[in-house]
Amino acid sequence: MQVFETRLALQTALNTSENIGFVPTMGALHQGHVSLIAEARKNHKTVVASIFVNPTQFNNPEDFKKYPIDTEKDLEKLRDAGCDMVFLPSVAEIYPQGTDSNKHYDLQGLEAVMEGKMRPGHFQGVARVVHLLLDAVKPKKLYLGEKDFQQICVIKTMVETEKIGTELVVCKTIREISGLAMSSRNRRLDEFSLSLAKNLYAALQYVKQEQKNAHLAELLHHAQTFFLKNNGIDTEYLQVCLENDLTKIVDKLDGHKKYRIFVAASIAGVRLIDNIALYDEK
Ligand code: PAF
Repeated sequence: MQVFETRLALQTALNTSENIGFVPTMGALHQGHVSLIAEARKNHKTVVASIFVNPTQFNNPEDFKKYPIDTEKDLEKLRDAGCDMVFLPSVAEIYPQGTDSNKHYDLQGLEAVMEGKMRPGHFQGVARVVHLLLDAVKPKKLYLGEKDFQQICVIKTMVETEKIGTELVVCKTIREISGLAMSSRNRRLDEFSLSLAKNLYAALQYVKQEQKNAHLAELLHHAQTFFLKNNGIDTEYLQVCLENDLTKIVDKLDGHKKYRIFVAASIAGVRLIDNIALYDEK
């Protein structure tokens, strides 16, 4: 596996590669990332991953400073997963003109809801860095995990509006046996908090299973009280949205449409997110 710190060195090495699968990451890799590499490995001659903790997507500078960095372990995991090349740039390499920018991506209202509402500027930063990374790697396909479903919608919009010829491959969320979605943030939870964290998935599953048996508002209220509040979990949002444009649904569910349920909640100061489809997936 080759590691490149500059765009030029990476592009020189990629020069003749046409069939590239790309997995962008911020490091602190877990089984979820490994599964993305494994999926890309099945479909591409060359698999490239990036490790870059992107400052422009952190609206809270403290969060950026606290972001876990373990490059040696990450490189080992990528090597074991069969990755061919890793792009490991510095902030100055990605943003040679500095991190301020006048470019504004039209994200079609996606940044006004859920994660966007809670973390102003976050999705502009995500769109910007993924745009720069795609420009450096020029992959045929980009592999992303469904846990960050809103991020996928944002990146899909950016790829379409910027007319980038890369296809998005959305991969299933990888979960612990308890149901907790794998996330780099889970390593900040102590044993007790970890045992509570499975309630996020339980709340989502409850609404999915009961969706035909009660009004949506009642179900959401019950899920929030029983699974989250009563376990000392601080809910930021628990809501159902249309899958295609993330419009929030407060009333009735139409059996012909595709919905997802989303949650963001904090346990002992660690903010976690998750989502599942309300329909049966293949
Ligand atoms: O999901 C992430 O790890 C990041 O948001 C991404 C897509 C690598 C962009 O920095």
